[in-house]
Amino acid sequence: MYNLHGKVAVITGSGRRLGIGEAIAKRLAAEGCRVVLSDLGQAKGEAFGAEHIGLSDEMNGILDEILKAGGEAIAVPCDVRSESDAANLVAQAVEAFGRVDVLVNNAGVGYLMEPFTEFNESSWDAVLDVNLKGAFLCSKHAAIQMIAQGRSEGPVRRSGTPDGSAGGSIINIASQAAKSGFPFAAAYTASKHGLVGLTRSNAVELGKFGIRVNAVCPNHITTGLGDWQNRFFSEKLGLDYDTYLKGIVDRNPLGRTGLVEDIAKAVAFLASDQSAYITGEAMNVSGGEEYH
Ligand SMILES: NC(=O)c1ccc[n+]([C@@H]2O[C@H](COP(=O)([O-])OP(=O)(O)OC[C@H]3O[C@@H](n4cnc5c(N)ncnc54)[C@H](O)[C@@H]3O)[C@@H](O)[C@H]2O)c1
Repeated sequence: MYNLHGKVAVITGSGRRLGIGEAIAKRLAAEGCRVVLSDLGQAKGEAFGAEHIGLSDEMNGILDEILKAGGEAIAVPCDVRSESDAANLVAQAVEAFGRVDVLVNNAGVGYLMEPFTEFNESSWDAVLDVNLKGAFLCSKHAAIQMIAQGRSEGPVRRSGTPDGSAGGSIINIASQAAKSGFPFAAAYTASKHGLVGLTRSNAVELGKFGIRVNAVCPNHITTGLGDWQNRFFSEKLGLDYDTYLKGIVDRNPLGRTGLVEDIAKAVAFLASDQSAYITGEAMNVSGGEEYH
């Protein structure tokens, strides 16, 4: 356990059952964080159908479970593509809990996939708007709040600089697709590569405020979105589902697919002071499948 007692964590895209965001929210709550769940809450047009997004009822169910387990949490609907929604998300967190210490940019669209020559502009825009612009907007408003909170004075090192123990931690959920290319996923892959660029740029710029910015790069989680992707790719490759899944497991050095909890553990570490000297990283959590 990383003991995150008293920290306030905002997690976008955390209102969908079986999602990585749900696991992150539950793990951070179990570590003592006061948690702000957030998701789109309702279907919006063709690109954001009810079958792919976290609905209000789903998010409220996750909220209830965190509260029943003794955690502190609220739920705030937020479309990360909207700057006013992003600003409101941070404002609601501050109103409820007084501060923001951790932002996890987890909201993502990974189900709009087509062969490149058939990829339409509206799908490209939807993917880039959520995965990259959404992270920019939420990071911007979280950083404004973290800077206003000031940097806590950690033990002073011999060099005279504080140990960087506070300010804040922004964690971007990128992907293996931030490191390697994938067929049918030009927009997704471009957005996740871009998210690592945003991570590095913000790490350099916000470091002086004690704000650390890192990315976590999962390879393949087979629940929720991952399950949808397995079906999509097995169909495209003409393989049955189990054969396709076995291929994923066989090429993984640790011989299994990822679990949402694997990602939540990495996020808890990056949210904690145990990672106080780590910023600008894009950490693979892939069982060794991706290592650069
Ligand atoms: N599942 C995997 O194998 C895998 C692998 C690598 C990276 N990822 C990344 O992990 C993150 C979580 O994915 P997941 O697998 O839990 O899938 P998921 O579909 O369960 O979660 C994505 C969440 O983003 C939300 N979202 C979509 N558009 C939004 C918007 N406009 N505003 C706010 N929220 C919005 C959805 O409602 C959903 O709750 C994503 O960024 C995804 O790209 C997933």
